[in-house]
Formats: sequence, C-alpha cells, structure tokens
Amino acid sequence: MTEKTSVDERPTLVLTGASRGIGHATVKRFSAAGWRVITCSRHAFSDKCPWPMGPEDHIQVDLSDPENLGYAVQEMRKRLEANGSKLHALVNNAGISPKGDKGARLDSMDTPMHIWRHVFQVNFFAPIMLGRGLFNELKKAGGSIVNVTSIAGSRVHPFAGTAYATSKAALASLTREMAADFGPHGIRVNAIAPGEIDTSILSPGTEKMIEDFPLRRLGRPDEVADTIHYLCSPQSSYVTGAEIHINGGQHV
Ligand SMILES: NC(=O)c1ccc[n+]([C@@H]2O[C@H](COP(=O)([O-])OP(=O)(O)OC[C@H]3O[C@@H](n4cnc5c(N)ncnc54)[C@H](OP(=O)(O)O)[C@@H]3O)[C@@H](O)[C@H]2O)c1
Repeated sequence: MTEKTSVDERPTLVLTGASRGIGHATVKRFSAAGWRVITCSRHAFSDKCPWPMGPEDHIQVDLSDPENLGYAVQEMRKRLEANGSKLHALVNNAGISPKGDKGARLDSMDTPMHIWRHVFQVNFFAPIMLGRGLFNELKKAGGSIVNVTSIAGSRVHPFAGTAYATSKAALASLTREMAADFGPHGIRVNAIAPGEIDTSILSPGTEKMIEDFPLRRLGRPDEVADTIHYLCSPQSSYVTGAEIHINGGQHV
C-alpha cells in the first residue's frame, strides 16, 4: 500500500516582521482570505496570537544576522514542502528605524557606521537574501514579492534617520531591478511606501504633522494590509515594478 501524502492547497505567504503593526494587520488580512501565513520575527511564537496558526507556521529569525537568516531560509523551504514547495507571496515588511538620544533624528553627519550597516542588513540585504533564497518556490507558484519601503525613501523626513531613509530608497530601486530580473520567470515584484501609519515605529510629534495632510489623519495598518493583499492577488496580475504610496496625500 502506498502512503498518501496530503498537500496543503492554500496559497502561502512568507511575511517578515509579523509580530506588530503593519505585519500583524497583514497576517490578519491574508488569514481571513484563506491563506497560510508563515510568520517571521525575532520573538518565539506566542500562544497569545489571535489566529489559529501554531508554532509550525512561525520562524524565529534575526534578520540582522546573515548566518541566522541563511538557516531561516532553509527552514522556510522545508516548511513549504507541505504546499508542494510553492510560495505565492513574499512580503519583506520587517524594518528598523533607529533614533539617537531622546529620540533624536540620526543624520548623515552623525550616524555611526555600525548602525548604518545594521539598518541596511535588516531593511535592504535581508529582502535580497529572501527573494533569492525563495526564488524556486516563488517561480513554481507564479508568485509575487512586496517590499515595504517608506515615504522617507523619497524625501527628507523630520524624524526618520538618514540610514533608514537611504535603505528604503535602495529597497525601492531594488524593487525595480528585481521586477526586471524575476519577471521573465513569472514572478512580480512591487513595493508599497507607507506614510504615517499608526504603529509603534512613529515618533512623538507625528500627530502635529497630520494637520496638513489632505486626509487629516494617520493611516491604519489594515489599510496598508489591504494594498499588500491586492499586490499579491490576481487583481494585480499585470502590475510589476510599481511602488504604491499609501500616505493620505502627504506629498501632494
Ligand atoms: N508605521 C509607519 O508609519 C511606517 C511608515 C513607513 C514605512 N513603514 C515600514 O513598514 C514596515 C513595518 O513597520 P511597522 O510600523 O509595522 O513596524 P513595527 O511596529 O516597529 O514592527 C516591526 C516588525 O519588524 C520586526 N523586526 C524588527 N527587527 C527585526 C529583525 N532584526 N529580525 C526580524 N524581525 C525584525 C519586528 O518583530 P520583532 O521585534 O518580534 O523581531 C516587528 O514585527 C517597516 O519596514 C517600516 O519601515 C512604516
């Protein structure tokens, strides 16, 4: 008698930075739409997580450590075997925005080089390593990559530091390059650039900024998650190399 192996038919997402903010809202959005979501963050799986997925769909990884990330990619590929080694979406959402003393903005004169390298490893090199490491699985599913950039990548921001801003500008350029390289293999690559979204990454004083925004309010994580979901769905099947700005008109 041959043993019957069952394949999980749900579309699958690998999502970094799933534990809070935009990532947390993204898990909820995709889960509600019937996706399997493999979450990644530095923390271990918590029983307090409000959705049904267990530790088998969580990978504890420190994206600032290339060696640890290499192991995590191997682990992701192993976990995807349950889905016939198909990956339908990779969302590079995790990001860090270090501040100086008392929350001061770190500018291009004062940012210590070790902080600059740390920021680039998490915000920029990790998405490259994940995109390349999961290429075969994405190709098999005709999948989609979404890189989370930022409004700070295109203009000087009052609170976001220079290392953060330049890492996000580089990630926007990487999106364009990857769209060109991955497109012939049937993989779409897009970015979303959030403005001021109500999460823990915001600095005090942001409330004052929104008085001048056309929509006069902060964005909500679920509004960002909806756009990420659109970019991973067949509704956006001819969209690649794009960066969608989600900022309430902040730059008009
Ligand atoms: N909120 C905004 O207004 C805004 C605006 C523009 C762009 N963005 C971008 O949107 C993305 C999400 O932002 P957010 O506001 O939701 O951030 P957040 O609330 O600070 O969450 C950041 C996430 O990244 C994870 N993370 C941080 N360092 C990590 C590391 N070394 N390895 C693995 N995971 C790590 C954190 O998980 P652990 O702590 O568990 O590791 C957490 O889940 C970021 O890329 C950010 O730059 C946000």
